[in-house]
Amino acid sequence: MLKYTRSDFPPGFLFGAATSAYQIEGHQFGGAGRAMWDDFAATPGNVVRAEDGARACDHYHRFGDDLDLLKEAGFDAYRFSTSWARVMPDGRTVNAQGLDFYDRLTDAMLERGLKPCATLYHWELPSALADQGGWRNRDIAAWFGDFTETVMGRIGDRMYSVAPINEPWCVAFLSHFLGHHAPGLRDIRAAARAMHHVLLAHGTSIQRMRGLGMENLGCVFNMEWATPADDSPEAAEAAALYDDYYNRFYLSGVFHGRYPDRLVRDLGDHFPDGWQDDFPTIQAPLDWVGLNYYTRKLIGPDNGPWPHHHEVEGPLPKTQMGWEIYPQGLHDFLMRTGAEYTGDLPIFVTENGMANPDVIVGGAVNDTARIDYFNQHLGAVRDAIAKGANIQGYMAWSLLDNYEWALGYEKRFGMVYVDFDTLERTPKASWHAFKDALAR
Ligand code: FCB
Repeated sequence: MLKYTRSDFPPGFLFGAATSAYQIEGHQFGGAGRAMWDDFAATPGNVVRAEDGARACDHYHRFGDDLDLLKEAGFDAYRFSTSWARVMPDGRTVNAQGLDFYDRLTDAMLERGLKPCATLYHWELPSALADQGGWRNRDIAAWFGDFTETVMGRIGDRMYSVAPINEPWCVAFLSHFLGHHAPGLRDIRAAARAMHHVLLAHGTSIQRMRGLGMENLGCVFNMEWATPADDSPEAAEAAALYDDYYNRFYLSGVFHGRYPDRLVRDLGDHFPDGWQDDFPTIQAPLDWVGLNYYTRKLIGPDNGPWPHHHEVEGPLPKTQMGWEIYPQGLHDFLMRTGAEYTGDLPIFVTENGMANPDVIVGGAVNDTARIDYFNQHLGAVRDAIAKGANIQGYMAWSLLDNYEWALGYEKRFGMVYVDFDTLERTPKASWHAFKDALAR
């Protein structure tokens, strides 16, 4: 059972579940083009068992049943994403089947009374655009603007809300500096350019949607709390730098029209020419902000190359990802975002959840650890609301077990278990817990 029910949250508070296109749809279906994740997964050493999203959950064919699961549990909203490589297989030319799919999916949500909350880009960059430098190329802002207009020209009239890009930190830093995600670069200059271009593309997309007359537009940032590994001033500085490049860079760009001083100092030489002039676009006004939150990191200083720090293993209980369970971080981000960046703008928790080594026993999946995780984080949301934060919704990650990127199909985040051989869906105890809580 969940500790809280719908009535413990303000009237109109939205409960939803989130997924993303490449992680569930099955990218071999419906004329989708090659995406950089296909290339990344095909390269040895990048992804567990070299798994890719070719079939995934086959949501492309089974979306009606999956939406039924959302409706039956009583969710109000569905946060989904639209694959660029499905809609424009070469990044520029439209695949009619791709647009048709999102059109059908939208109507299927509306038929079930679910609010469609779209994210335009959750990482399926068409390989053809990766060939042209992808996020390193400034032209990506215009390419993404065209993609935005193509998709929203078709389904924009029926969206409840739209965010251009899921998790700019992952698009830029995780994928171009740490190399853990596609395109797998480990290059400080590529990373700095991607950090700026991802925000330029975000702002361009917002402007194009305003041009279509659309409302309720936002952004989705991932946040990871940085805790100094010890009491030294060096550890405090290391954690502050981590906080700057992980969290504050994107919020600051979009809401303050500048980048944190430490990053201008350390990465300024690598930003693309004229970056200072792009803030009017980057700062295109928004209607809401979304935060994705999972964990924190303990950060300690070292004498290595930039960023001169490393992660230290923390003492708290961990999820299957090895991520510490730290609900206080969600509370603190919810408070800080309003206080320092967004004022009274509505905040949504757009992702929160945990991976767990779930198994089916006697036809059921008893994921009590996940229920406990949701309890703790919903409690953090409630505390922040009680202190005045303007939080208007919470979306669990994820509806289904799915393709967890570099970790393949091994890490299960779903409230619904997926057997990846038969593709059979089995609602877990956490799904039943939401069903119970949302009815009351
Ligand atoms: C987030 C991603 C999502 C999923 C979760 C676990 O960073 O947005 O696709 O992988 O982490």
